Amino acid sequence: MALYPSAYTLSWSEGNNISSLHLNRELFISYNHRINSAEIPLLKSHSCGELREKHVGQTVTLAGWVHRRRDHGGMAFIDLRDSAGIVQVVFNPRTSEKAYCIADSLRNEYVIQVTGEVVPRPAGTQNPKLATGALEVTANEATILNPAKTPPFYINDDVEVEESLCLKHRYLYLRRARTKDNLVLRHRVVKFFRDFFDAKGFIEIETPILIKSTPEGARDYLVPSRLNPGKFYALPQSPQQLKQILMVAGFEKYFQMARCFRDEDLRADRQPEFTQLDLEMSFVDEEDILGLMEELFTSLVETVKPEMQVLKPFPRLSYNEALEHYGTDKPDLRFGMELKDISDIAAHTDFDVFRGVVETGGKVKGICVPQCAHYTRHQLDELVNLAKGFGAEGLATMAFTGGSSSLDKVKSAVAKYLTQGQLEGIGARFETKPGDLLLIVADKEEVTNKALSELRQEMAGRLDTTDANLLAFAFIVDFPLLEWNAATNRWESTHHPFTAPRQEDLVLLDTEPSRVTARHYDVVCNGCELGSGSIRNHERKLQEKVFGLLGYSEEEMENRFGTLLRAMEYGAPPHGGIAIGLDRLVMLLAGEQTIREVIAFPKNQNAADVMFDAPSQVPEEQLDELNLRLKDEEAIKI
Ligand code: AMO
Repeated sequence: MALYPSAYTLSWSEGNNISSLHLNRELFISYNHRINSAEIPLLKSHSCGELREKHVGQTVTLAGWVHRRRDHGGMAFIDLRDSAGIVQVVFNPRTSEKAYCIADSLRNEYVIQVTGEVVPRPAGTQNPKLATGALEVTANEATILNPAKTPPFYINDDVEVEESLCLKHRYLYLRRARTKDNLVLRHRVVKFFRDFFDAKGFIEIETPILIKSTPEGARDYLVPSRLNPGKFYALPQSPQQLKQILMVAGFEKYFQMARCFRDEDLRADRQPEFTQLDLEMSFVDEEDILGLMEELFTSLVETVKPEMQVLKPFPRLSYNEALEHYGTDKPDLRFGMELKDISDIAAHTDFDVFRGVVETGGKVKGICVPQCAHYTRHQLDELVNLAKGFGAEGLATMAFTGGSSSLDKVKSAVAKYLTQGQLEGIGARFETKPGDLLLIVADKEEVTNKALSELRQEMAGRLDTTDANLLAFAFIVDFPLLEWNAATNRWESTHHPFTAPRQEDLVLLDTEPSRVTARHYDVVCNGCELGSGSIRNHERKLQEKVFGLLGYSEEEMENRFGTLLRAMEYGAPPHGGIAIGLDRLVMLLAGEQTIREVIAFPKNQNAADVMFDAPSQVPEEQLDELNLRLKDEEAIKI
């Protein structure tokens, strides 16, 4: 063969067209050495996707997968694919009868090796969509390195595939250009992070995976300890306590690409195991962290996705402003359609529903959707059902069909309960234009906000006005420190218990805990919560006070947080940090709708790995070793 003739012997059998390959061991080791030193890969002189005009005239050896094959004019054309891209290989019986015979037996996804000459494609046959589209390789030799069964879905076509198939045959799904590109992008993002933080004097420190539970609002994954019968480790929901302890240890700038594990209900942007860019800094305040984040995201996008646009400076919204204007603390700021409160007008109408809601402390709010006044009865009913699906009792609609807000120009079942003045007041509040459709929800404040925020997102999708290349980052600040949980009758942390209260609110901890503002911040982008963090409590006394408010007894505090509390007594510096969801960030950069598309081996909706069939039952002996017995004996029959 062209490159390493003595490295292997090839036998070629006409009968089954399968060649076998015997590697000479010494040379195999030496090749591996070359791979390790990032030189030339094993069985090829070039990658398929790297060939350009400068290679014309050279004899190359390629190896990869049959992406597509066509027969035309007595010749076979193979699109040969490897990790670098695709190149066309032409099998002409006049160049090599033997290679042409092999080509005849090739099917999609066969693994082959080809040696041939790089030539320009004949005029008119160039493919501008391919980086290698101006040339092709005329095959002199071909070897089948491994045949392939017909895949359960097309690799070379981006058609939708049922999710269970993508997960079961992940190695095939990952061959698709889109999925592969997503993982390459993920790699670039992680590399960027490492370079960025290294240049700023941060050091990456790994924290253990087998730890004691740290609360982040989800259930823990537990690992039984064989050496400590009856005891369990928890997998980290995040390295929160450990990174704070690193600050006490004097590492002033820590970061880590941290694996986190949370047993919670899954959604498009949630996986049971995921990765965070986790960081912590000493002697900082909110501005230091937020400034760093703005610089990080801006330069990341410039480097890895220059075609995407970032809106700068990142706007800051208080938690209350976000809820008031967008109905959610993770608003999508790529478009308007802000929520407007019309409770003051609604309170004086003859419409019982509006009046009743306001009288009982609820809110009447709406959004103005441009160009949808023409919606049919059927389309409006659909929106009402959507609103109900989002938890609202109902939805009032007002279509502003004409030039003014006069009663005869507004189509609405509610209009008859309103005076001309009230209608004009509503029109003015939303600054309606002819053709606009108002969607109005009257309900408890949380329900009104939730339903309208979902409808806002839905209508933006329908109007298709959002720029796919726009990344609208924002910081959400001024969250309440605590939330009252009526079901459990106790205060809960809005985020986690290590967040510091604002200095000026400390007195409220004793009197009105609900009014204490946290030194917490979220980073959101395009309607997605990308990250969150805070300035922490660094004094034991204050941290204990917060734990106390959360209802922890002294014993529980010692048991769950004793280590951190003790560490705080040995000169803990003021510190703060943040964690960014890597999977969500790459999802946004890749323009994907779910993080499963940017994770090599994700779990399904039931948190199961369908490729390896995990979780699975284990033999009884293994349970015995761990001192475990299943409640339901039937369940351990394997
Ligand atoms: P938080 O719990 O908000 O904060 O997590 C930070 C970010 O991690 C991502 N994330 C997830 N991504 C995928 N699947 C999940 N199940 C999942 N859960 C969270 C989100 C989220 O914004 N220790 C704190 C950070 C700190 O205070 O420094 C923490 O983990 O993008």
